[in-house]
Amino acid sequence: MSECCAVILAAGQGKRMRSDLPKPMFEVLGVPMLDWVISACEESGITDICVVTGYNHEVIEKHLDGKYTTVLQTERKGTGHAVMMAKDWLSERRDKNVLILNGDAPFIDRETILAALWQHEHKDDDVTVITAEIADPHGYGRIIRTSGGISAIVEEKDATDEQKFIREVNSGTYWFRTDKLLSALDRLRPNNAQSEYYLTDTIYILLGEGCRANAYTSPNPDTVLGANDRRGLLMLNDKARMVIINRLLDEGVEFVCTDGVMIGKNVRVGAGTKILPGVIITGSSQIGENCVIGPDCLIDNTSVGNGTVLNCVQSHDSTVGNNVKIGPWVQLRPGTKIDDGVKIGDFVEIKNSTIGTNTAVAHLTYIGDSDVGSGVNFGCGVVTVNYDGKAKFRTTIGDNAFIGCNTNLVAPVTVGNAAYTGAGSTITRDVPDGALAVERADTRIVEGFGVKRLHDRITKNRT
Ligand code: UD1
Ligand code: CA
Repeated sequence: MSECCAVILAAGQGKRMRSDLPKPMFEVLGVPMLDWVISACEESGITDICVVTGYNHEVIEKHLDGKYTTVLQTERKGTGHAVMMAKDWLSERRDKNVLILNGDAPFIDRETILAALWQHEHKDDDVTVITAEIADPHGYGRIIRTSGGISAIVEEKDATDEQKFIREVNSGTYWFRTDKLLSALDRLRPNNAQSEYYLTDTIYILLGEGCRANAYTSPNPDTVLGANDRRGLLMLNDKARMVIINRLLDEGVEFVCTDGVMIGKNVRVGAGTKILPGVIITGSSQIGENCVIGPDCLIDNTSVGNGTVLNCVQSHDSTVGNNVKIGPWVQLRPGTKIDDGVKIGDFVEIKNSTIGTNTAVAHLTYIGDSDVGSGVNFGCGVVTVNYDGKAKFRTTIGDNAFIGCNTNLVAPVTVGNAAYTGAGSTITRDVPDGALAVERADTRIVEGFGVKRLHDRITKNRT
């Protein structure tokens, strides 16, 4: 591929969203639309990217974190005006082809970008508009075709009744020869229904200068879809959701019912895994083969091995091994690593801890900042006391230890291999290997106490 660069238009507010968030930051399947567009560029091998920001630009700048050049469009005077803001940046790339994209059309894809570039270069065109034929073209710029190429793009608001019937529309993504784009921008005027500088007007300007303009029709009609309001955003989410579920079905993943199921585009799921209703899997999560996930799980940036069952689990930035059983009602917080064969039951929270193979944490337990060995058994209601109000400390538990019910392990503390703690103990000192630690008062028996109380109650009721 020849050397290329890209400009992404992301200055718009999206008034109809009724939000302070810049429109390209609205999320489709948990990822900002802008990131979908950036990914499409990078997957096409384009890393030299300039983002035009405007409305609440700090939000986008913070999000991009210096990874890409940004230029500011202080006033929103249209898509052509937005590109003008990148003039200096473009001037340093005069001899290249530049891809211009809308930050609010997330489904532009690598195949379309590269096929359009191929056509652009082989036909030696100066601009190639990426288009698609869609059933309902309302709101999009219509493509006016000629025998050898195209003659114009007409916006909905400027279109004649006849032009409104055209179903081939502008995706908002274009390949330009940068030098030609720069000269066309100089000639752009805001003479249209909205008094905006339309980027689309560069087409007839270039044609007037004897340049060549053409369109590449993407076989994927979704490439044009954008979100101008919340209804549009929901539609994009629905589309993306089903595209991913369909891909997973082809890859051998089982869905009994897709209600409430949302799986992010960077998530991987192995064959033979069953996804039950109410499952959200996001970030760069990876699920192995033959697992059962759900019902009602939120799995974010978590890697899960094979044959694991997660039922009603919330997990963030964690790793879970093979043949693990977790749930229901369990939270795994960042930095948790669960080894193979572990069982974790209801109302357990684990944070920043490793849990060794075949360990069982059956109920009502908090494990934070801990290193737990293998074959350990936790009774009901164990708490690692990892925070003294100022600092956090670690707890270490050896292999085959047995932690009695309602044990508090006050960190920093170590329970040795095969050591025991008695139920109800608050352990403040290290327990040696193989020992038992009990820290509680002896049981005191007061004979007849209950009988006397009962007698008092009965006589009081009589009087
Ligand atoms: C634009 C196209 C239309 C195309 C459609 C595809 C024009 C004139 N029209 O229309 O032909 O079918 O996209 O989705 O280009 N933006 C700025 N600064 C501005 C105005 C817009 O950065 O001053 C950004 C927006 O944030 C957005 C993108 O440009 O990401 C497109 O702007 P939008 O107003 O949504 O254009 P459309 O009316 O959808
Ligand atoms: Ca739009």
